[in-house]
Amino acid sequence: MIQRFERINFLRGKLKLPGDKSISHRAVMFGAMADGISMLHNCSESEDVSSTINCFEMLGCRFEREGNDVKIFGKGFKNFDEPKKELYAGNSGTTARLISGILAAQNFESVITGDESLSNRPMKRIVEPLRIMGANITAKENGTLPLRIRPSAYLNPVHFKLPIASAQVKSALILSALHLDGESEIIETLPTRNHTEKLLGLKCEDDAEGKKIFVSKKNYPEPFELNIPSDISSAAFFIVTALLTNNSELLLKNVSMNPTRTGIVHILKSMGGRIEIENMIETMGEPVGDLRIYSSQLTNIEIPKEIIPNIIDEIPILSVAGVFAKGNFKITGADELRVKESDRIKSLCENFKKAKLDVFEFDDGFEISGSVCNENVSFESYGDHRIAMAFAVLSMLMKKGGSVSGFDCVAISNPNFKAQIADLR
Ligand code: S3P
Repeated sequence: MIQRFERINFLRGKLKLPGDKSISHRAVMFGAMADGISMLHNCSESEDVSSTINCFEMLGCRFEREGNDVKIFGKGFKNFDEPKKELYAGNSGTTARLISGILAAQNFESVITGDESLSNRPMKRIVEPLRIMGANITAKENGTLPLRIRPSAYLNPVHFKLPIASAQVKSALILSALHLDGESEIIETLPTRNHTEKLLGLKCEDDAEGKKIFVSKKNYPEPFELNIPSDISSAAFFIVTALLTNNSELLLKNVSMNPTRTGIVHILKSMGGRIEIENMIETMGEPVGDLRIYSSQLTNIEIPKEIIPNIIDEIPILSVAGVFAKGNFKITGADELRVKESDRIKSLCENFKKAKLDVFEFDDGFEISGSVCNENVSFESYGDHRIAMAFAVLSMLMKKGGSVSGFDCVAISNPNFKAQIADLR
């Protein structure tokens, strides 16, 4: 589907976005694992989270959904049913990687598959550490899906230092370790999103080596009720649109303000963006606040490499902000972008070139200079939801608007993006 976007002059009003995708995935998983009924409010409406729910249905779990409330009838410790078919994770890396950690500890065989994009993404990063724990898990020879997981003769606690900054790898190991009597120690050297640790209430210690996370069967989830904060990664598209249009004043309610996710807000503020944070509260260890955003003049800044894991999903929309900010936009140290839903470095560079910007592509990032053209440009989504929304925003900021092909993939994280924009203009 080719979607046309006309230029817009402002975003005004109030918006409450559905729940954070990363937190929703985990809440669904922990509810399914717990022995009894859990209740989620404001769960993500994304196709990705539906993929997680579908997988747990195939493992014998029942869900009742009413709007964004999800009631989960959890199965309890090692009580999942053997799936009759392959578990299909769709487009969702979080589903495939996190569920592998849980399945590695079960007494039955399972197979995880996914769509074309997910079937090309690297899985060795979870297969290798899970094997070190003793898991019986294999991927295709080139390290991709399908994953086949068989019961393991022994699964042992580990002392493991994560070789890459990935919350998905960290969480897969934590979820496996939750099934073991002995304590595992998982060490991360660069901070990544910590929703797994927060929701499970895991003990964490910082020392010279990094952050140590301690986990054992004692931390296995129990039934809970959770109000999921709104998704900051979805909010980022609205924040940037409001900052870059004149006469905008936007209020985003109940946004997740977890410090491992707020890098985008800090960077945009350092670039000169007027973003005010109000009404901070905490729910199950997760900070939440309201964001007030006003039209602003932005200036590009140097983006420190250590912050990349914190902003990894927001780089597409941050680079759109960079196009309209004073100076060149440059990002390096972001090679993980190459293995997301698309090769995001390539997807971004190709699309920016279509807008007649000067683009230099590096192995681990890119630099953009120049000004967007005054033509009506057709952008490509590359089947990647965050690329589709980033170039929808760029289109809305261009004099003659623009269009994005394959736009329906936005449903992967936010099926209502277009309607939400329409309500604010
Ligand atoms: C996620 C972790 C990140 C992120 C993804 C969601 C998660 O991936 O890009 O969209 O929920 O744990 P990596 O762990 O591969 O960096």
